Amino acid sequence: MSDTYPDNGTSPAAKVPRHVAIIMDGNGRWAERRQMLRIAGHKAGVDAVRRVVEVAGKRGIEVLTLFAFSSENWRRPKKEVGLLMDLFMVALEREVKRLNKNNVRLRIIGHIEGFSEKLQKRIHRAQALTADNTGLTLVVAANYGGRWDIAQAAKQLARRVEAGEIRADDIDAEMMNACMCLHDLPEPDLFIRSGGEMRISNFLLWQLAYCEMYFTDILWPDFNEGVIDDALASFAKRQRRFGRTGKQVIEGENNDA
Ligand code: IPE
Ligand code: IPE
Ligand code: MG
Repeated sequence: MSDTYPDNGTSPAAKVPRHVAIIMDGNGRWAERRQMLRIAGHKAGVDAVRRVVEVAGKRGIEVLTLFAFSSENWRRPKKEVGLLMDLFMVALEREVKRLNKNNVRLRIIGHIEGFSEKLQKRIHRAQALTADNTGLTLVVAANYGGRWDIAQAAKQLARRVEAGEIRADDIDAEMMNACMCLHDLPEPDLFIRSGGEMRISNFLLWQLAYCEMYFTDILWPDFNEGVIDDALASFAKRQRRFGRTGKQVIEGENNDA
């Protein structure tokens, strides 16, 4: 598996992350500070998504993954969950046309079966419409949980063992990885969380193994080009070692032979 890690420490071109994954947090507080209802913050959050998708394309990022709704967000008041689902429906319909026009390929990851039939249909339609686009890949994590992702991968492998296709002893990290969401895309290079909390909140647990982390106090609806550029500048200054020494990375050595 170590051979598959990207080598951002040695190539100047690799100073722009190929894959950026963002926890879009702070919508509720943004609205509450303005004496508005929390849903107004979520609506303003959709505008921020539009801005960030545009900047990501301009900066040459290949994959942008956004955490929109976690498997734990069902625990919120019924009313907020209902309004979020409505907003998801409307945004899918309205934004997908724009995404398609901009050559963006949309993918949804998460336990989609947990959504209403109507929403599931709309998700499948949006993915099909943009499937052949060749620009930015926009991944939206909805009803996603990192632990759910790991468990569904384990289930796939267990089924193959049951069917006699593989032996339990054959299972390694690489095989597991092939069953995880996003396995066919470059691994996330840069993780950003807005809203001031410094936690992962069950986002991409497996995929973030060697990801660079960036936290900002900016609330998601205020997120803009400047914040992305600050995060990209911070990323560009870092040396990614993937377990090696700094000297090895500078000299481009693969081992100490
Ligand atoms: C993130 O904003 C959006 C979702 C989780 C759907 P929040 O709604 O968590 O905003 P805060 O953290 O309460 O401010
Ligand atoms: C994480 O934010 C989930 C999304 C942004 C979709 P939360 O606001 O739900 O995270 P916690 O509950 O503060 O950890
Ligand atoms: Mg929050």
